Amino acid sequence: MKIGLAAVAGGLSARSHAADADPAFLANLLRVQGQKMDEDLRFTAFALKADAEAYAQVAALFRASAVSAKVQVRSHASLVKELGGTPKAAGDKADAASTKDNLAFALKEATHEAETLYPELVKAAQDKGMGVAVRVLTYSKAAITEQAKLYRTALEHLEEWKGAGKVFYVCPVCGLATLGMATEVCPICHTPKGMFTKVV
Ligand SMILES: [Fe+2]
Repeated sequence: MKIGLAAVAGGLSARSHAADADPAFLANLLRVQGQKMDEDLRFTAFALKADAEAYAQVAALFRASAVSAKVQVRSHASLVKELGGTPKAAGDKADAASTKDNLAFALKEATHEAETLYPELVKAAQDKGMGVAVRVLTYSKAAITEQAKLYRTALEHLEEWKGAGKVFYVCPVCGLATLGMATEVCPICHTPKGMFTKVV
């Protein structure tokens, strides 16, 4: 289940399926794409708040989340454009509450994406035989599932996440954000670890 960097960064070859695009599928994809654009700004605001509250390691997690959101904005935008849509932010506000509340919010959103939004999109893409979309959205589902685990861990051990020390890595293809880098390649999309973005 591997996808080349060029396929994601340089344009996804889904044109043969564009004519078959279901308007409802495109609308749902646009909504998720907009959410991802909002997440980039929201996680950046959450990181600033966490730094202000001395939760430096939570701040690093939110910065990694912002990098991940950027990756998915890019891959989703390619899909949206191939299907004839125009990517745009959903426009949700990016206000930051306390770090504890921000983590709880991030966990809730990530869980919803992992358990509902992406599975529905993957199923719709599968039903339409849209192979590239299935692959990209399956990657996103797997990445956000792992991200939810990080939010849960941080929330459950919040006081231990003060101070510096945790290093995150973000895959430039699927958007996986991982605490440390234990494998030579991305466990989701097999991108070499040397290509990951380091976030502290
Ligand atoms: Fe990856």
